[in-house]
Amino acid sequence: MSEENKPEIDEHTGVETTGHEWDGLKELNNPAPRWWLWIFYITIIWSVGYWIVYPSWPTLSGATKGVIGWTQFTKLEAEQAEIAARQQQFLEKFEPASFNQILNDQELYAFAVAGGRAAFKDNCATCHGTGAEGGKGYPNLNDDDWIWGGHVEEIYETLLYGIRSTHEETRYNIMPRFGVDGLLKREEVAIMTDYVLAISGGAKTGTFARGAEIFKSQCASCHGADGRGDHDFGAPNLTDAIWLYGGERQDVYESIFYARAGMMPHWQGRLDENTIRQLSVYVHEMGGGEGVKPEERAALDVQGVSLDARE
Ligand code: HEC
Ligand code: HEC
Repeated sequence: MSEENKPEIDEHTGVETTGHEWDGLKELNNPAPRWWLWIFYITIIWSVGYWIVYPSWPTLSGATKGVIGWTQFTKLEAEQAEIAARQQQFLEKFEPASFNQILNDQELYAFAVAGGRAAFKDNCATCHGTGAEGGKGYPNLNDDDWIWGGHVEEIYETLLYGIRSTHEETRYNIMPRFGVDGLLKREEVAIMTDYVLAISGGAKTGTFARGAEIFKSQCASCHGADGRGDHDFGAPNLTDAIWLYGGERQDVYESIFYARAGMMPHWQGRLDENTIRQLSVYVHEMGGGEGVKPEERAALDVQGVSLDARE
């Protein structure tokens, strides 16, 4: 033992020092205060109790179980059971209700919209955007411009079977690849591009009459004689300047030259029936669907179900 480490008695207090010294300041070897010791003992007793009651010590096969059987999973299960029970009470009324009944019953309607909104975020937002605003090739579902129809039953069918999906009942229609397959010459595709731009509000060009002729023989069967589209064929309205694939001249040219054939998955078998019905009502609502009167909307807003929320 070196000279400095030897216990020494502090001359002012008479207490033994620990032998530690910093710049002339010496540490006294006082016992810990009683209150502090008591808290220390209580925490030890507490922790022993805790080990017995709750799962704590790791073992080879997991951890000690604890006498009350608490786990984060049982806690979660209990919470989920509570939510499920609350939903069950709505589901019992929702399940047998027709779309018409749902659209005319405030409670069922609010239930559908809330459930549909949550399911939309999980399953649809990747393609259609979180606000359902769409993007190139993915239709905006907020407007009342529908390719396959905006009645709630039509939306339901779109969701069940998908569009050009692998479901055997899928909505299906393929526009011919006019350029690629040589059905129209390049200059004819150009003429049709100008024609489509003209009927959607653009200026008429010198080839408009020729375009109208080709449209009648090649396009009208799907897009309609007036170019307003046809929900039965999933052919978009070409006159409303709302474009699925872009309205620049080059976009329209490519739509006609290559054709597009967008794919939307089917949801039957992936989502349960109730969720698909909730989604149908939600999407219908977003597109300003018919069947809900303004005063009902106002009442729902009061209930805190903001129908106009576009988060
Ligand atoms: C993989 C991408 C993708 C996902 C995921 C997806 N969609 Fe679509 N959806 C599309 C495409 C592409 C179209 C347009 C198909 C076409 O050209 O007709 C479409 C069309 C639609 C239409 C028809 C719109 C109309 O104007 O008739 C509805 C309704 C729709 N989607 C709703 C949904 C809902 C609800 C979900 C979630 C359950 C969803 N989509 C998930 C890609 C997707
Ligand atoms: C067999 C039916 C069919 C015929 C015939 C047809 N189309 Fe289409 N057309 C469609 C469908 C279906 C779509 C939507 C494609 C998709 O969603 O992928 C479409 C999409 C388009 C678009 C893109 C619209 C947008 O919003 O971006 C244009 C432009 C178009 N067609 C023009 C024409 C012209 C011009 C002709 C005639 C030369 C024609 N189509 C003939 C079915 C048809």
